[in-house]
Amino acid sequence: MTFAILTHGGAASPKALSDGCETAANAARAVLQAGGDALAAALAATVVLEDDERFNAGTGSNLRLDGRVIEMDASIMTGDGRFGAVTGLERVKNPILVAAKVRETPHLLIAGAGATAFARRLGFSDYDPTTDRARAKYNRAIAELRGEGDGAYADDAAVWKDIAIEKVWNFSGPVLGTQGAAVDTKSRIRPPGDEGCDTVGAVIRDNNGGFAATASTGGTLYMLRGRVGDSPLMGCGVYAGPKGAVAATGIGEEIVRRFLSKTVYDWLADGMTAQAAAARAVALFPNEVDVGLLVVGEEDHAIAANRDMAAFASVG
Ligand code: GLY
Repeated sequence: MTFAILTHGGAASPKALSDGCETAANAARAVLQAGGDALAAALAATVVLEDDERFNAGTGSNLRLDGRVIEMDASIMTGDGRFGAVTGLERVKNPILVAAKVRETPHLLIAGAGATAFARRLGFSDYDPTTDRARAKYNRAIAELRGEGDGAYADDAAVWKDIAIEKVWNFSGPVLGTQGAAVDTKSRIRPPGDEGCDTVGAVIRDNNGGFAATASTGGTLYMLRGRVGDSPLMGCGVYAGPKGAVAATGIGEEIVRRFLSKTVYDWLADGMTAQAAAARAVALFPNEVDVGLLVVGEEDHAIAANRDMAAFASVG
């Protein structure tokens, strides 16, 4: 059987960042060529994407609404049905590797302080994933929320316009807009091409017909503490089985509502091609909702999105 490696940098990530996805795919390919399986290849690709600070996962993850907290989500599923995930993980370099360790336990998902303690117990050292790029993105996003933005994040901000943030604020620090330097809009830099990076992910079919799918993310642009999207939820951000693997990216709440990755997997299992399943999946979403997918089946593969999306396919 031929192998297939698909990687992505998130729905709405600029295609110009596809070089990062190619580097990730090459890492996965090297693993397969050395005899590694889909699981090992998916992890190798995802680590590269998490380490690329241009993407919103691992190093470079989005800051939450307080401008200080970073909580990361990641998951991995393999074709044998085994799944592992973390949510609300803090101060770890590669969340996908912690998710892979959860997959080796009887649990599916470990959350928050428990996830971070689990990581530490397994030797994952303390690491601050905050970058200047993420701070700049945060400042620019907060400016939009205050009605002083440049419009790039207007759609993301719109859903918060009618919400009294002080009533739902669950951070220990002061409410948005009263904390000085962290929301200094005058220091806004505009990182080129940084409008929409979302989740990173990979799907793999190895030469033995094994499948794996991953997702890793710093979440969306405007998040309360503890907000969980699709990426760590089985059947939402990822799904894999004997017939293929699926990884989704986009607005997590909308992906969860559609149970997207499992839905697409079921179409594959019913005999639909990856190309047809991916196109049908994107069509489930209204145009204003960002969504993207990687789909690999037994015989074909597909990359689909309703926005630009950095991605790469390597098939052999
Ligand atoms: N798709 C990533 C998230 O919504 O958290």
